Formats: sequence, structure tokens, C-alpha cells
Amino acid sequence: KDKSTVSITVVGASGDLAKKKIFPALFALYYEGCLPEHFTIFGYARSKMSDAELRTMVSKTLTCRIDQRENCGEKMDQFLERCFYHPGQYDSEENFLELDKKLKEHEDGRVANRLFYLSIPPNIFIDAVKCASSSASSANGWTRVIVEKPFGRDSASSAALTSSLKQYLDEDQIFRIDHYLGKELVENLSVLRFSNLIFEPLWSRQYIRNVQFIFAEDFGTEGRGGYFDNYGIIRDIMQNHLLQILALFAMETPVSLDAEDIRNEKVKVLRSMRPLKLDDVVIGQYKSHTRGGVKYPAYTDDKTVPKDSLTPTFAAAALFIDNARWDGVPFLMKAGKALNSRGAEIRVQFRHVPGNLYNKKIGTELDLTTNELVIRVQPDEAIYLKINNKVPGLGMRLDQSNLNLLYASRYDKEIPDAYERLLLDAIEGERRLFIRSDELDAAWSLFTPVLKELDEKKIVPEYYPYGSRGPVGSHYLAARYKVRWGDNGSEQ
Ligand code: BG6
Repeated sequence: KDKSTVSITVVGASGDLAKKKIFPALFALYYEGCLPEHFTIFGYARSKMSDAELRTMVSKTLTCRIDQRENCGEKMDQFLERCFYHPGQYDSEENFLELDKKLKEHEDGRVANRLFYLSIPPNIFIDAVKCASSSASSANGWTRVIVEKPFGRDSASSAALTSSLKQYLDEDQIFRIDHYLGKELVENLSVLRFSNLIFEPLWSRQYIRNVQFIFAEDFGTEGRGGYFDNYGIIRDIMQNHLLQILALFAMETPVSLDAEDIRNEKVKVLRSMRPLKLDDVVIGQYKSHTRGGVKYPAYTDDKTVPKDSLTPTFAAAALFIDNARWDGVPFLMKAGKALNSRGAEIRVQFRHVPGNLYNKKIGTELDLTTNELVIRVQPDEAIYLKINNKVPGLGMRLDQSNLNLLYASRYDKEIPDAYERLLLDAIEGERRLFIRSDELDAAWSLFTPVLKELDEKKIVPEYYPYGSRGPVGSHYLAARYKVRWGDNGSEQ
């Protein structure tokens, strides 16, 4: 008989993230039989709510995936029976002590492991960590805390946050989430590189001309302006999500798949990077636009955003890794809200084939394109490689085709949400996909100088219409490094 139990407390249980991601992910794990036999879920927040009310709230957020339809309703009921609520202030030792008492009742003398998911704003973060660790830590099992960004606004505030956290927790109790690391194709990046012969030998300046990391959303900051205006797209997407993908993409082969070995390599590559220069950044902000009789708002139309806000909702940047493998290769990033499409992808553009016979033979008629490897993280997960191919027939005509791995056609399975994997890893103590504090420091060092300069010089963003392709400045930036963005929207 299993003598241990895990209690998962969602601090900030009535918030958006808890409803959209955390409870649904916990249920999906339960459905798949991934949670331990004994587990309890507690919601903790300030508002008064009964267990029954929490269950009603949670039940509205639960869905079953296509492959989880069997007994779905029954499973939901069983799951909800394990969910409870405790109202309390985030800075009250007393309220956390009451929670501790309730947790103990559920743990019923078993080895008690406790996971706290802090889904609360940064200003109350430390208070909650303090109370949870001093008044509701497990006496005989592990206590772990999952924290969500923002981890500060720059190097100094992030370091201050880390040192406050470390007053109450050891580094190995802190699980800093970057949910992009939980995405299927991001996890697959290392599999692709290190378990196939044909990619890794090409993975360097010798064959790769440039690499692009692209994030686009076709909606604005609707409803989140209050948070967003303080951070902007560089802090919201680039410094974390895109940079994490870059680190996995560019790191050297780790000694093993252990968390520390992987994170050591990620830190190394981040520390080999040049801090971003103002010249290598383009920023934009969306303005209102009317299309088909519908008026789409400007960023500054949001009531929670100051009218004169210069906060970027779009940014493009050119980054460089000064090591032997990547010397001189531009790593371009582009992230934006309220664009014409939605997606996240990695694009690897290879060099020209030296002395290409087919260029010579066909001459100027044909502009042979270079190979490009695309890893589409979302939506419609895919990996494809653009190659030059002979058009069938008696003549000699070449065109560009794709070697294609479309997940939806290859795998008859819905892809789990990133939060499922990350929650499961936290429960199992697997730290590979979480951010270590030295990684976080290295990431901030790259962006802090430019963020400061943008603020101090009050750099005005290039305005782009809601639903457009974003500022043309991003094309000039790329052109400076002889790069053309690959996401021209005409593929697949
Ligand atoms: C979050 C950002 O980290 O990621 C949001 O704060 C963004 O601004 C979101 O919308 C995107 O995540 P996903 O998984 O929907 O691509």
C-alpha cells in the first residue's frame, strides 16, 4: 500500500491561469492515471467560497480530450471530490496554519508531500512563499513551490526576488515555470538533434546561415493590459519563451539527460551570448484598425493602459552567440500581439550549396532556394524540411518541396497541454524543464541593458495596424544581416 500522499495547493485559485490551465491540467493527469493514489487538491484564495462552490467553479473549466471521452463525466466527479477550498489572505501565517491543519487531516498520517502552485501577482509573491514555507510546509515529506513569471523586470529586481525566495526555500524546492518548455515540439528539439545522425553534424555556423524564433498572436492584450503595460513583449515573450527555445536549440551536447546536465549547457550558451544592443532591436505597438466594418482596438484603447504608453506589443531582435559553434550566425527573434496570424515556430535557414550544379546549368532562370528546416511549435505541430526537387517530367525543372512530418497525420493522439507535463514533472521532482536561478540571471543580463535604454530614451514604437504583419522595421533589421524572415504565410 502506498504510504505517501501529495497535496497540491493552488494559491490564487480563482484567477485566470488557475481556471484556464492549472485545474484542467490536474484533471487531465488524473484522467490518465498520472497522479498518485492518494492526492488532494486545495484551492486557496481570498474570496469566501465553500468546497461545493469551488467544485462548481472548477467543473466549468474541465474538458475531456478526444481520446479521453470514455467515462469522462464519472472521472470528473471523482476528481472534484478530491478538490477542496480554503479561504485566506496571502500574507497571513494564521490562515496558512489553518490550511496546514486541513492538509494534515487529509494526509491522515501518511508521508506528506506538498506542492504549492503560486498563481498570484508578483507583489504578494514573497509573502505567500514565506507563509507557505513557515506555516504549511510538510513535516515528513517534500515541499515544492511552482512559481510563474514575471520573475522581476530586470537583472536587479530578478536577483532581489531570487534572494528573497531563497530566504524561505532551497533552490531545489523552487520550480520556475516557463510553459514553453512543456510544449511537445520544444521538448522534441533535443530528440531531433541528438538522436538522429543527420541534423547534429549540420548544427553550426558551417552550415547554418541564420536561425529564427517567431511568436505571433492574432489578438491583442485584451483584459491583460494592466499586467502587460508594466512588462511589454520583450519581457513577456522574448526574455523567457523564445530565449529558452534558443538555448535548447544552440546548447552543446549535455553529458546526460539529467536536469543539471541540461541546465548547465543552457547556462553556458546563454553566457556566451552578447547582450542585445539597441541597434539590433525594433519595437512596435498596435494601433486601431477597421476591417470589414469591424473596428479593432489600439493597444492604448485598453482602459488599464495609459494613453501615452510606449510599451512594445511587438519586437524583433538580432542576437549573437560568441562561441566556436555559432560565431557570426544571426539568431533572430520576432514576437508580436495583434498580428495577422497566430503561431510559434523555429526556422533554420541553411547556407547555399557551394558550386551548385543546378544553378550553373539552369542559370538565372532559377533562383534555387536554400534548405530550411521548420519546427512549428503551434498550432498544427509539424516539422518540415524544404528541399529542392525535380519536377517530374522529361525536362529538367526544379521546384521547392517539403519533407513533411505533420503531427496530426502521423500521431493519432491529441497533444497534452504544456501544463500537464510541467505539473507532473514537479510532482515527480524532475527539474529538467524548469528554470534554474543562474539561467534566469543569464537571461536577464542579455536583455536588461536594452530594456533600460528603451525606457530611458523613451523610444517610440513603430505603430502597426491591428491584424497586420507588424512593423516593416523588422524586415530592415533582418536585411542588415542578410536575412529574410521565413514566415511569409504561403506555406502548408
Ligand atoms: C504567456 C504570456 O507567458 O504566454 C502571454 O504572458 C501569451 O502574453 C502566452 O499570450 C502564450 O502562450 P501560449 O501557450 O498560448 O502560446
